Amino acid sequence: MTDSLFSPLSLRETEVSNRIMVSPMCQYSSTDGFANDWHLVHLGSRAVGGAGIVMTEATAVSPEGRISPNDLGIWSDEHADALERITSFVKSMDSIPAIQLAHAGRKGSKSRPWDGSDPVFPEDGGWNPIAPSDVPWPYESDAPELHELTTEEVGDVVDDFRAAAERALDAGFEIAEVHAAHGYLLHEFLSPVTNHRDDEYGGSFENRTRIVREVTEAVREVWPDDKPVFVRISATDWLDDRDSWDLEQSVQLSADLADLGVDLVDVSAGGLHPDQEIPSTGPGYQVPYAELIREETGVRVGAVGGIRTARHADEIVRNGRADLAIVGREHLRDPYFALHAAGDLGVDAAWPPQYQRAVPRR
Ligand SMILES: Cc1cc2nc3c(=O)[nH]c(=O)nc-3n(C[C@H](O)[C@H](O)[C@H](O)COP(=O)(O)O)c2cc1C
Repeated sequence: MTDSLFSPLSLRETEVSNRIMVSPMCQYSSTDGFANDWHLVHLGSRAVGGAGIVMTEATAVSPEGRISPNDLGIWSDEHADALERITSFVKSMDSIPAIQLAHAGRKGSKSRPWDGSDPVFPEDGGWNPIAPSDVPWPYESDAPELHELTTEEVGDVVDDFRAAAERALDAGFEIAEVHAAHGYLLHEFLSPVTNHRDDEYGGSFENRTRIVREVTEAVREVWPDDKPVFVRISATDWLDDRDSWDLEQSVQLSADLADLGVDLVDVSAGGLHPDQEIPSTGPGYQVPYAELIREETGVRVGAVGGIRTARHADEIVRNGRADLAIVGREHLRDPYFALHAAGDLGVDAAWPPQYQRAVPRR
């Protein structure tokens, strides 16, 4: 039988009611990394709206793992406590709460986008961002100095991801996603553009991917066998004019991740370098990357980028191009995207009883 957008998805013992996931989206609305009413209402609304999986924004595994001082974090048990009422509400809506565990690396210590995304210096509440190599974000003249990680400190980063995953489990999340995309710390290790190391974390494909494998193993180790782990990657740096991270390496990495017990690769792209050349930003512009990875490795994939309509999302799943349609900005425009998608596709959807009188009649 062909799967469709409203087919359930079994991932280990986790049963997802449909193939729609809310893409992780930074809200830059925390103080000291804590979840607050904004996060409850924002994520809660998308659960009310019928998405099968509601994923948090990039959630920092350490204070210097944030992009801005306003990012969400999970570096203490108190942070996990603040997230618990969100997971509990999301579950009460029969949606699956997922968390994206992240480290911003060299892209950290910036003000939030609506304040200009400018460098924030340590004396103003920022920090010295960490990176695999001392390769600052290009075309930026004045920013806090980067700290190049020692080999030992790379191990500390792996430990931070492990501890964050343990806390995420305590907070009630069902799915943990490792953020290895968009030019943040783990992606910086993957790409030869930003990784110039000469220890076991730099050089060959094997070495550049080592930290991603170690973080995945650490998360998988503490995440229960009956619950899924995802990894988000950038399939390509979109820097074809230089030695960079590309689709071929992404296929190989995805196969390796599947061997480590990763249940789904969330396939995004870019974000590493301002010179990137994006061939298109039209509907489904990254779907072919997901499709290829699925085809070549057999691993489940999520497709993201420019998915705006029910029919498009349904087509992606029906044609076996991806197992999950991951919807970002359209969910900001319409928190009830999934309920509306069901209506568009003629599928009965579980509108909350409180809203029954408003269910559109077909
Ligand atoms: C406001 C905003 C914040 C985002 N924050 C994150 C994030 O925290 N983690 C991440 O992996 N991607 C992040 N992204 C990228 C989205 O998850 C998604 O991949 C991208 O927007 C493309 O999908 P779309 O066309 O459906 O929006 C963000 C995008 C937006 C618009």
